[in-house]
Amino acid sequence: MLKLNQVSKTFNKDSINEQKVFNNFSMDIEKDDFICVLGSNGAGKSTLLNIISGKVKVDDGDIILNNVDVTEDTEYEKCKRISRIFQDPSLGTNPSMTIYENLSMAKNKGSRFGLSFLIDRKDEGYFKELLKTLHLGLEDKLHTPVSQLSGGQRQSLALIMAVIGKPDLLLLDEHTAALDPKTSEIVMNITDNIVKEKGLTTIMVTHNVDQAIRYGNRLIMLHRGNKIIDVSGEKKNSLTKERLLELFKDMDDKSLFS
Ligand SMILES: Nc1ncnc2c1ncn2[C@@H]1O[C@H](COP(=O)(O)OP(=O)(O)OP(=O)(O)O)[C@@H](O)[C@H]1O
Ligand SMILES: [Mg+2]
Repeated sequence: MLKLNQVSKTFNKDSINEQKVFNNFSMDIEKDDFICVLGSNGAGKSTLLNIISGKVKVDDGDIILNNVDVTEDTEYEKCKRISRIFQDPSLGTNPSMTIYENLSMAKNKGSRFGLSFLIDRKDEGYFKELLKTLHLGLEDKLHTPVSQLSGGQRQSLALIMAVIGKPDLLLLDEHTAALDPKTSEIVMNITDNIVKEKGLTTIMVTHNVDQAIRYGNRLIMLHRGNKIIDVSGEKKNSLTKERLLELFKDMDDKSLFS
């Protein structure tokens, strides 16, 4: 479904700040994969998502999405097919607009028309049904500015917005990391339900080892731009924290498990 072929990326080439993040990195993502990506700070996790989304251009290699070469496509060109949610709840939604306006924007992502043109009162029932699936009571706050929502409510809304146009790929970059543990669990459950229900191909970056073990069908650990662990199916299902630590024991960086 998505292929990265021999991708390389170096930031600030030939300067004192040169940072080689990927060198001939390849990865195949199957349709319906729900991949959890672990890795220490600076391993290249966000850069991997940036490369897939088109935010960062690769120096070498190709990116193939559904048999089409999208290596040179811009982030804007890909935005209808690839949705993304970040760690910061303020990035996925527009705080000065209402829930209703945010959902209208998401529904018409990539459209050239202005917001007032896009707001369709007929969508009210549809949006309420979508929000009800979150069980957070947001269906009764349709005309409330998003700035009045909690971080967890915002990330949940961002999830609904990210999948409203049925993207080919959902990218989650530590999207529960800024939430308290209980809210993080609620948003993870919502995420899992949405991914399963819609059969979305998903890549989720997380620092939470328990979540990476519990969710998804495949787990990848990145270390200095390399996949040092890539397990799926039964192997992934039988993975424990202890086993993961064992697999990781030869690495010099144990910060992941601290
Ligand atoms: N736009 C950029 N310009 C220069 N260097 C960058 C840029 N983006 C990332 N880097 C560098 O690339 C390396 C990998 O960064 P990346 O953000 O992918 O790490 P990460 O695995 O997501 O880490 P974290 O867990 O801290 O989010 C880091 O050394 C970072 O400083
Ligand atoms: Mg990151």
